[in-house]
Amino acid sequence: KKIVILISGRGSNMQAIVETSIAQQWPAQIAAVISNKADAAGLAFAASHGIPTAVVVSKEFSSREAFDSALQQKIDEFEPDLVVLAGFMRILTPAFVAHYAGRMLNIHPSLLPSFVGLHTHQQALDAGVKLHGATVHFVTAELDHGPIVAQAAVEVLNNDTEDSLSQRVLRQEHIIYPRAVRQFIEGKISVSGHHVTIADA
Ligand code: GRF
Repeated sequence: KKIVILISGRGSNMQAIVETSIAQQWPAQIAAVISNKADAAGLAFAASHGIPTAVVVSKEFSSREAFDSALQQKIDEFEPDLVVLAGFMRILTPAFVAHYAGRMLNIHPSLLPSFVGLHTHQQALDAGVKLHGATVHFVTAELDHGPIVAQAAVEVLNNDTEDSLSQRVLRQEHIIYPRAVRQFIEGKISVSGHHVTIADA
């Protein structure tokens, strides 16, 4: 099986997936890491692990449609079974999302359906919730609304800042995202409408 991972920056989730795939000897290969930003820090990590990298610079395209179609062409050169969005900071067009329907995952740093969009940790602090976390979900046309594959919760502590809370959530992301990707690769995930079932979980 082949996985293509899309990043925009740091790429710590991508790194967790790569490292777990190696440590657990997945029957899958990270076929490429693709960024929409040339300076994404994660590209160096991927390259140092012998993973092909590519950059499709979003700001060089005049429209969302033009960028997404160039990105799709690049992704499809690697013939992925699964596309993994890992800190990929782009709103995707419906045509792009439809092309990867049922085979594109994202991680969002909140317990969906709470706190869609950006600044989720600040949103959680502002709302005064006592539990916060992260969600792995299938990507659908509606932002941050696809079928939920996995979630992890962390307690919000009295003195939490956006920074401290995001760090605690990120540690959970690095556990649940590799696990979900592995389950997908192993064919254990089935989706029916909005409901995801995972075999022997
Ligand atoms: C993560 O918090 C992820 O949930 C969000 O953006 C951040 C990306 O971090 N979508 P990294 O690039 O994986 O380190």
